[in-house]
Amino acid sequence: MADALGEILLTEEQIRRRVAELGRQISADYAGLELTLVCVLRGAVVFLADLIRHLSLPASIDFMAISSYGSDTQSTGVVRIVKDLDDSIQHRHVLVVEDIVDTGLTLAYLLDNLRNRSATSVRVCALLDKPARRRVPITLDYVGFTLPDCFVVGYGLDFAQRYRGLPHVVVLSPEEVCPRG
Ligand code: PRP
Repeated sequence: MADALGEILLTEEQIRRRVAELGRQISADYAGLELTLVCVLRGAVVFLADLIRHLSLPASIDFMAISSYGSDTQSTGVVRIVKDLDDSIQHRHVLVVEDIVDTGLTLAYLLDNLRNRSATSVRVCALLDKPARRRVPITLDYVGFTLPDCFVVGYGLDFAQRYRGLPHVVVLSPEEVCPRG
């Protein structure tokens, strides 16, 4: 039996159009340059795969996996690198590709780490932003959609490793009401 999910917040078509727009914008902003896309595993792989097909410039891909040290240290943003980049980013233009920015703690750690590696530039492209949840200030250079504070799955985002393959972004629980801004 299919699970009961909640409201669809972003349809497949809305996502497709927005990702194409982001691709055009990024291609224009970096015209004449080469990019390194740094994908933060795991949720961002779906977004990355679509985004790179809308870039009209040379772009390499690298991956990082990050894990929290545990629930008691989560609130401090203490995280560790589970898988590091394969290649150096020295003298590269780096665009970090994230599926969602929530508290900002993961990205704050990651940006701090990447900015110590002598890249030419480090910017961020996040498909989804939940600013109401932010605990540390983060500058997002490209944002697909700003979402209300409710738990969403699909298009790479999971709950207990499920639902990543849904083509749309949907609220997890049928009972949850998402406040609209
Ligand atoms: C999500 C997302 C970010 C992080 C954002 O990853 O991909 O990396 O959470 O949360 P924050 O802003 O509160 O730090 P998650 O831990 O769900 O792992 P996953 O991508 O493997 O699903």
